[in-house]
Amino acid sequence: KGKSKTSWVCESCGFATGQWWGSCRSCNAIGTMKQFSEVSVASGSKVSGIEVSENVMRSWMPHQAGGLLRLPEVQRGMDQLAWRIALSGPFGSEVARVLGGGLVPGSLVLVGGDPGVGKSTLLLQMAATIAEQQDLGKPAAAIAEQQDLGKPAPVVYVSGEESIEQIGNRADRLKIGTEEIFLYSSTDIEDILGKIQPLFPSAVIIDSIQTVYLKGVTGSAGGVQQVKECTSALLRFAKRTNIPVLLIGHVNKDGDIAGPRVLEHIVDVVLYMEGEKYSTHRLLRPVKNRFGSTDELGVFEMSHSGLQAVSNPSEIFLSEQHTDSQVLAGLAVAVIMDGSRSFLIEVQALCTSATSVSRHCNGIQASRADMIISVLMKQAGLMLRENSIYINVVSGVSLKETAGDVAVAAAICSSFLEFPIPNDIAFIGEIGLSGELRMVPRIEKRVTTVAKLGYKTCIVPASAEKYLANLGFEGMKIVGCKNLKEVINNVF
Ligand code: TYD
Ligand code: MG
Repeated sequence: KGKSKTSWVCESCGFATGQWWGSCRSCNAIGTMKQFSEVSVASGSKVSGIEVSENVMRSWMPHQAGGLLRLPEVQRGMDQLAWRIALSGPFGSEVARVLGGGLVPGSLVLVGGDPGVGKSTLLLQMAATIAEQQDLGKPAAAIAEQQDLGKPAPVVYVSGEESIEQIGNRADRLKIGTEEIFLYSSTDIEDILGKIQPLFPSAVIIDSIQTVYLKGVTGSAGGVQQVKECTSALLRFAKRTNIPVLLIGHVNKDGDIAGPRVLEHIVDVVLYMEGEKYSTHRLLRPVKNRFGSTDELGVFEMSHSGLQAVSNPSEIFLSEQHTDSQVLAGLAVAVIMDGSRSFLIEVQALCTSATSVSRHCNGIQASRADMIISVLMKQAGLMLRENSIYINVVSGVSLKETAGDVAVAAAICSSFLEFPIPNDIAFIGEIGLSGELRMVPRIEKRVTTVAKLGYKTCIVPASAEKYLANLGFEGMKIVGCKNLKEVINNVF
């Protein structure tokens, strides 16, 4: 079977070449070139011991039935994109949204993140969600039917990181009691796939890709070639059986999963889990998705009983005062973008008359704040000269975008005039030196978020007003302002 081919592969970047080099020709790392024999892997015979019913294969993979097909001849009913395993509940729907509407049968999903961020927790909860699913949706039900199981198939959670007992303990903490999760502790891919196959599970979880290995491949578990070949083997398994496979991958110090980006090319979906050290918020971000948009972001909170979907994620950076009915002077809401997602943040300002005037900024660039203050004095006539001004962005977020300029100016005005801004107004726009409001990127998305959260008024640059008004945001007034004077006249 196949001719043995020897090549040299860089352990750090995955670069392959026919000859040995002292340093990698691609990433220049020294001493990373390792000999690699492709014979047993390339032939694909490694996982061929696992028999898949021909019926299952043929009915689920129409494109494998024959040769070339004309576009209209393609059977649309079998479209994988339309058939997903729905995930229910608040947690499930948040994950489903990040996945692009549910888990696609036969897909290979990689979940990456720093150690300890909560990947195992996330996937155990997903396993429970899938296993407890009453209404499995078409695909899973169809698989179950085809396999004559007559009932939903279980979910298998394979761990090479923790013992079965540890996972059991975690499940207790998460209050997962379903009988439909099977746990297995192993690191040998062939053994794992062999054990899984007879169960016909509705999903398989591998925790983690760095701990599994494939016999006959050079390098130890976690090495570039092992990780790459194991992932390829799991991909073949997923595509042949139509069982979705979810992989956990640790992020190394360079921020890559398993060193090279090679893994990301193999899998269908890559999700990154992020979280600040001292925050309980966890973000789940798709960086690649063959079945959906990467413009999604899942927001969760890590609680004592696991991850909980945050119902109003755009508001997580707002302080508690803000949601109170009583509003204070000196607060204004800005809208920032993080990747593709928009968040509302709160800018606080405090103006105090003082003999020695000073400026303090927290979460905003001092030079930007100075500019806004100068423009307020010169172009809007605010007598700020004898004031010490403190500016603070709540929740430790930093305001890097100029789209927050108007909110900063409004917060300063509010404190100076001791006039609280009603807490249903949001501000979007950049300020120019003549006090004019300028357009900012992705304004439509920002305004949509503001509208969704029930704000009554959104202050935007006049140049965007007409365009935004045409889009029609129900229940929210779009107020276009040419300059700071108009903002002040409208709000105060
Ligand atoms: P874990 O899922 O083990 O992280 P990873 O697999 O990414 O390494 O979870 C790590 C942290 O989450 C751990 O420090 C404890 C915390 N945690 C909670 O706060 N609540 C919970 O219910 C669980 C299960 C974990
Ligand atoms: Mg873990």
